[in-house]
Amino acid sequence: MASHITTDQFLAAAKYRRTVYALKGSSSVSDSRIEEVVKDVLSFAPSSYNTQSARITLVLGDKHKQFWDIVIKESEPILKGAGEAVWNAMEPRFQGFKNAYGSVVFWEDGKTIKQAQDTHKASAAMFPEWADHASGMHQLLVWTALELEGLGANLQHMNAIPPVEAALKKFLDVPEEWKLKAHLNFGDEAQPHPDAPQKLPVSETFKVVS
Ligand SMILES: Cc1cc2nc3c(=O)[nH]c(=O)nc-3n(C[C@H](O)[C@H](O)[C@H](O)COP(=O)(O)O)c2cc1C
Repeated sequence: MASHITTDQFLAAAKYRRTVYALKGSSSVSDSRIEEVVKDVLSFAPSSYNTQSARITLVLGDKHKQFWDIVIKESEPILKGAGEAVWNAMEPRFQGFKNAYGSVVFWEDGKTIKQAQDTHKASAAMFPEWADHASGMHQLLVWTALELEGLGANLQHMNAIPPVEAALKKFLDVPEEWKLKAHLNFGDEAQPHPDAPQKLPVSETFKVVS
């Protein structure tokens, strides 16, 4: 059965997604609609062997501000350790992320990955990588869907600083075996929706063999 959505409509929707940094602390989309969108993605997004290791926490309003207060507190000594200039460059960025309305936090459940490795022993070594691929697919779907709703969003990786991950796990009350993969700040746009950045010429990135 053919889909009622055309390929061009699908690609146009995917192309609309952009990194939007300037976000307001408001959302023209209701919390329940945001929740519905995220849950919908979890209900159909692909994963290797249908493993379903992706986990998502939705953080809204004041909790989003507290989330960023934790990131700032935990990362400050580490980034300052890398040089005052590093902290001076990052701190305003973090404050900008805090200004947003909410975060979609993407995790991977290590227990589920381990079970898949035990079940499919021949491919066991591949499962962490495949879980990352699947997480990226979830991230892209949620990011695109929220922007189609009219919000702006940007994807961040504060898991690069280990104490941040530990503190966020505690704050969001997630199991120890979950691993932080990425998180998406979102809110009403405080800037015009950007155009796509320049891409490499397709002659450098694509080849057809026939
Ligand atoms: C895997 C991945 C990781 C990214 N990590 C970050 C990040 O940590 N911080 C950030 O500001 N943007 C991050 N981005 C956003 C990219 O910088 C952005 O997608 C790219 O510049 C193209 O712009 P666009 O999103 O508007 O298409 C990431 C994007 C991808 C796909």
